[in-house]
Amino acid sequence: MSSTAGQVIRCKAAVAWEAGKPLVIEQVEVAPPQVNEVRLKILFTALCHTDVYFWEAKGQTPVFPRILGHEAGGIVESVGEGVTDLKPGDHVLPVFTGECKECPHCLSEESNMCDLLRINTDRGVMLSDGKSRFSINGKPIFHFVGTSTFSEYTVVHVGCVAKINPEAPLDKVCILSCGISTGLGATLNVAKPKKGQSVAVFGLGAVGLAAAEGARMAGASRIIGIDLNPSRFNEAKKFGVTEFVNPKDYDKPVQEVGFKKNSLNMIIMILEQVHRYMIINNICADDGFDNQVIVEMTNGGVDRSLECTGSIQAMISAFECVHDGWGVAVLVGVPNKDDAFKTHPMKFLDGRTLKGTFFGNYKPRTDIPGVVEKYMNKELELEKFITHMVSFSEINKAFDYMLKGESLRCIIRMDG
Ligand SMILES: NC(=O)c1ccc[n+]([C@@H]2O[C@H](COP(=O)([O-])OP(=O)(O)OC[C@H]3O[C@@H](n4cnc5c(N)ncnc54)[C@H](O)[C@@H]3O)[C@@H](O)[C@H]2O)c1
Ligand SMILES: [Zn+2]
Ligand SMILES: [Zn+2]
Repeated sequence: MSSTAGQVIRCKAAVAWEAGKPLVIEQVEVAPPQVNEVRLKILFTALCHTDVYFWEAKGQTPVFPRILGHEAGGIVESVGEGVTDLKPGDHVLPVFTGECKECPHCLSEESNMCDLLRINTDRGVMLSDGKSRFSINGKPIFHFVGTSTFSEYTVVHVGCVAKINPEAPLDKVCILSCGISTGLGATLNVAKPKKGQSVAVFGLGAVGLAAAEGARMAGASRIIGIDLNPSRFNEAKKFGVTEFVNPKDYDKPVQEVGFKKNSLNMIIMILEQVHRYMIINNICADDGFDNQVIVEMTNGGVDRSLECTGSIQAMISAFECVHDGWGVAVLVGVPNKDDAFKTHPMKFLDGRTLKGTFFGNYKPRTDIPGVVEKYMNKELELEKFITHMVSFSEINKAFDYMLKGESLRCIIRMDG
């Protein structure tokens, strides 16, 4: 038993006090774990775009003050009552969506949407007593997706903790706790491309590139990467992406259209230009222009597509660019809470399938130790996803890198 077991731990945590304001490193109190909970010492954490969305809280429910963070690796410090399969010293990855091992979803081979522990982005407290384990001078600080890894110590439900090989370097495998497993699993477990098929990946951040990596592992013949940020394309070559499309390159008709003398035509032209401007600036939904580009590139559409952007336009494009008859599109990006998916029902009647996934359909406790082994056996490379590393005191830099589109994954060292 550790010397701190059963006691409140005072440690550093990065607190998001308000939407969009830099995190502040504070001394927090972390209460001991309660029934079916474990307290973890976080050694490394990384920033995923989902943290950024909930920090910005532009299209999401604002819950503040909050300790964000959900991609991490650490060591069990102490366990609460009823925890039998973890002990102090175990090496673990906390996961934002859990596995109780008892509910119909956990018992089904087809789902990882545990009834008890599935992702809940609005809840800021622990399940057992509806309270937070974090506080500053007695004032509660809310949790985030049951993990809150931007803290030296955190309390997590035992069902949200994957016990892994203690030999695995936590500064690398921590990224399997969300983004990389999500992208990889979205392709291998959900889209399931057959050898020789074509795959489109929308969004070439870490999640999308992990999806591309899955496509490469599955033997895809063509991997088409779509991103608005052209600097992503060079990087994506390392991940087996063979062709690139930037939807912004397809705005040329706006400039090329000449006005006709007839005034009705002129009004139509102006409306078209306004519509095009709104699409390019993400003010309204895409009209499928880039879908047509992909459909033309592939003689009828890609066999599989994965959307890893969080943009509703990209989600619609990802669905509409798959081949009729057999094409499957998988949504991975986290939408705004008011987004609505609009497409013509005939696209479904024509034999296209639309799916979505959290955490690449992996069950965290059952499957993630095996994904870590893939890294240990050199079947899966993680180093190429890690573009930056900062100390905990510099955590706001990780946000800047992601917002500027410069980083894939930035590792945050908790000892710094
Ligand atoms: N479903 C899950 O379980 C799960 C898990 C992790 C992350 N996510 C989500 O996956 C998405 C990607 O996460 P990430 O950490 O890789 O983010 P990221 O910011 O590193 O990458 C996103 C990429 O998408 C590109 N992009 C944005 N809008 C686009 C558009 N309309 N068309 C083409 N490209 C566009 C950006 O330029 C960027 O390169 C986010 O929405 C995140 O919230 C989902
Ligand atoms: Zn994530
Ligand atoms: Zn369950």
